[in-house]
Amino acid sequence: MNKLEIMKSSKLRGNVKISGSKNAVLPIIAASILTNEHCFIEDVPDLTDVKNMKDILVNIGVEVDWDKKNKLLDVRADDIKSTDMTCEDIGQKIRASVLMLGPMLSRKGKTKICMPGGCVIGNRPIDLHIKGLTALGAHISMEHGYIEAIAKKLIGAKIYLDFPSVGATENIMMAAVMAEGKTTIENAAIEPEIVDLANFLLKMGADIKGAGTDTIIIEGVSKLHGVRHEIIPDRMEASTFMIAAAITGGDLTIENIILDHVNPIIAKLEESNVTVEANDDRIRVKSNGIIKAVDITTLPFPGFPTDMQAPFMALMSIAEGTSVIVETIFENRFMHVGELIKMGANAKVEGRSCVIVGVNELMGANVYASDLRGGIALLLAGLCAEGKTVINDIKYIERGYEDVVEKFLSIGANIKKY
Ligand code: EPZ
Repeated sequence: MNKLEIMKSSKLRGNVKISGSKNAVLPIIAASILTNEHCFIEDVPDLTDVKNMKDILVNIGVEVDWDKKNKLLDVRADDIKSTDMTCEDIGQKIRASVLMLGPMLSRKGKTKICMPGGCVIGNRPIDLHIKGLTALGAHISMEHGYIEAIAKKLIGAKIYLDFPSVGATENIMMAAVMAEGKTTIENAAIEPEIVDLANFLLKMGADIKGAGTDTIIIEGVSKLHGVRHEIIPDRMEASTFMIAAAITGGDLTIENIILDHVNPIIAKLEESNVTVEANDDRIRVKSNGIIKAVDITTLPFPGFPTDMQAPFMALMSIAEGTSVIVETIFENRFMHVGELIKMGANAKVEGRSCVIVGVNELMGANVYASDLRGGIALLLAGLCAEGKTVINDIKYIERGYEDVVEKFLSIGANIKKY
């Protein structure tokens, strides 16, 4: 089990380049099996989630060539040999395997996957995925921990999502692009990753209107062709480094960023007395070390992203004043609070809210990461905590942050992996 050791670090300074987005590349890898031609996906981050998604495709006979040096993934689903993706050692490893339902129904008319387990941030139901795919004509059974889906023919439908689920929107889009007739998704997710997936599908020849709005209209087409597509930058990685500059009183320039994707973080950092200079595809974040407490409520895009709730809580732990953080997206996304308290944070969870009274300084401690964003929050806390912080089980962090140690070392963090 790999660990990270972080010592209190001086002000982080310099430049850091953001990698391609994990949450954009995973659905796009799934979508690449919708054609039997080559799909060249660029700026693919080297993450364990990407490796697991690649392995799922290889296991069913899809040709995947991953040129990690050039961040290029070449996928060719010429002959999908199997529709059974239940091999335990992979199917269970990644929740995003549920995103294979739509593409496999589109391409093969059937599939069998492991039920995506829940995780520490919540039980992660997939009822909205099932509702949408069933509306398109799929018959889906769930038993013995497996999901079996069959659709002799996918026929366009009008689908209303009770919640603007990112994954459900993506699955329905991928099932609808070659269905017969028109599909309307109402109350669709509008996250940037939805738009990136739509752009990928449009390049393949799909007929999609309204991606990025709450109503997406798809006219089914008979065939899709191969494409070349560059993944958008990872807005969560970018936001993480913005918070890292703030928490260490540093001065960082973050390159390869789409400003519209990080507006909530910019707004909240500026409210916290942090200076943000944004231009083109880079952002400079400076802090004089005095952080003011602010309140946040997580919401679907363009609200404050749930994925940045834990990292922002690390910052509020050392702010002047009291901050109230409300988590409205997931029912159990405060697993990091106990670990921050071990480091001296003054925090109290009450239902979906957490009240944090800022302290002068956190203390290094031996802490445990239990999910991706909670793990990176502990890394950020370790950067400003007195003494040594050891983060156990960093596999979660490595799921979503490419070259995380190298990137932090390059801007002056005192960090090592062992
Ligand atoms: C995506 O997860 C992201 N993952 C998550 O990022 C992100 O936190 C989440 O969207 C919200 O923005 C990927 O894109 C791979 P949802 P997803 O469906 O699609 C409930 C990270 O750290 N829901 O929008 O699973 C669900 O329980 C990860 O990078 C249903 O009730 O999120 C949750 O409360 C964590 N029924 C809420 O909706 C469903 O059928 C949001 O889920 C589906 C979801």
